[in-house]
Amino acid sequence: MANCVTNYSFFTVFVILLSSIFQFTKAMNNVFSIDLIHRDSPNSPFYDPSLSFTERMNNSFHRSFNRSISLCSPSSSVVVASNNGEYLMRYSIGTPPVHTLGVADTGSDLTWTQCLPCKNCFKQQSRIFNPKKSSTYKPLHCSSEMCHAANFPTSCNRMKKKTCRYHVRYGDNSYSIGDLATETIRFGSSKNKRVKLKKTVIGCGHNNAGTFSGDKESGIVGLGGGKFSLISQMGSSIGGKFSYCLAPFYQQKTYIPKSKIHFGTDGFAPGDKVVTTPLARKFPATYYFLTLEGVSVGKERLDFQNVSFSYGEGNIIIDSGTVLTLFSPEIYVKLESMVKSAIKLPTVADPTGSLNLCYKSISIDKIPIITMHFIGADLRLGPWNTFVATSDSSMCFAFAASYGGQIFGNIAQMNFLVGYDLKNKRVSFKATDCSK
Ligand SMILES: *[C@@H]1O[C@H](CO)[C@@H](O)[C@H](O)[C@H]1NC(C)=O
Ligand SMILES: *[C@@H]1O[C@H](CO)[C@@H](O)[C@H](O)[C@H]1NC(C)=O
Ligand SMILES: *[C@@H]1O[C@H](CO)[C@@H](O)[C@H](O)[C@H]1NC(C)=O
Repeated sequence: MANCVTNYSFFTVFVILLSSIFQFTKAMNNVFSIDLIHRDSPNSPFYDPSLSFTERMNNSFHRSFNRSISLCSPSSSVVVASNNGEYLMRYSIGTPPVHTLGVADTGSDLTWTQCLPCKNCFKQQSRIFNPKKSSTYKPLHCSSEMCHAANFPTSCNRMKKKTCRYHVRYGDNSYSIGDLATETIRFGSSKNKRVKLKKTVIGCGHNNAGTFSGDKESGIVGLGGGKFSLISQMGSSIGGKFSYCLAPFYQQKTYIPKSKIHFGTDGFAPGDKVVTTPLARKFPATYYFLTLEGVSVGKERLDFQNVSFSYGEGNIIIDSGTVLTLFSPEIYVKLESMVKSAIKLPTVADPTGSLNLCYKSISIDKIPIITMHFIGADLRLGPWNTFVATSDSSMCFAFAASYGGQIFGNIAQMNFLVGYDLKNKRVSFKATDCSK
């Protein structure tokens, strides 16, 4: 089966057109940092104390597979195609501000929250936002430019003063339907400084359902590369830049909520030991596509050029909301056999039943350095980036095969400051102790 990611290349010209329409509009400077709350940490509303460590890991692996499938579903040309991510962000919406919690999602664009009145809302921990009580809430009119510019379906709600209605559907059949509006959102930054973003286009969801049900978040914070994402809307006020630093917690099996996301230049430190690779322009603009030329295990290199389906510009999506790193089956099989022959220890079955190459209490120095050869950036991954505990006595290779899109996942990104520069269209990596 062909790797679906490469199929988008036909749309490249279209994307270039879209990008030229999108402009950096605001001039003020916004430099701030926010905590990213891991969904499985005890201070997350998703935290389920009844699950064992193995069950939690298993669920996270299955979310990865689901996400990979949805990131390349045929319908992703019209809908946002991701489901739940792995990190949550606190923000507040409206005037006076109502506190809320959304999934920070680098794989989708529209920021939306549940809104009163609910035709259909899932249970959420915090108060549901009531736009009628906010003095800064302003629905978009059907004739507005933004209503027509959406890369997800919109329609005109004639029953409601011709306001612009949106309909986002996720790959797992979750959906949110509601009104597009401009509203003030605020972030309480790590430095206790409040950041206020006026007239941000958001979705006010009156009809929301799917895998969100039973969860306790109240929507999505869209951090993708498309026009409607928070990143694009903040535009020049953050210099088109954001970065995150994800702290590893898998190794201790206790969850340290130290991860951060930085907007603007804050936390983004080019210089020594930074490797940089270009963002590929591909459709849909929502996803951050990189080009991976090959992978080395120790000194042995697998060149993707020889594995035709998976080679080409923008052949992998970098995503903070996917746990595993996923490759097309033809690449994964070769890579796994290279890792297996480098380790030379007896393998065990994965207690989660989801991963393919596991060892019993492997010592770290037995794990080879794996280098990702992105164009212009050789990224050396340490043991904690490539192996993950799945029980008290098993460590598994955190890469897997998927028939969906190829994804550079978040275990592989732990302890790197990952900087996105949308203005200069590049992504940088700097080895960093993210728990500090
Ligand atoms: C994966 O998606 C399927 C539907 O496509 C859903 O039933 C299942 O709950 C999802 N699994 C996870 C872990 O999100
Ligand atoms: C990959 O292709 C190059 C030439 O394009 C060749 O030199 C190399 O030996 C090939 N590697 C493998 C593993 O087949
Ligand atoms: C892992 O998750 C999958 C999908 O939810 C489930 O079918 C499987 O039984 C789980 N494995 C274990 C060992 O619980």
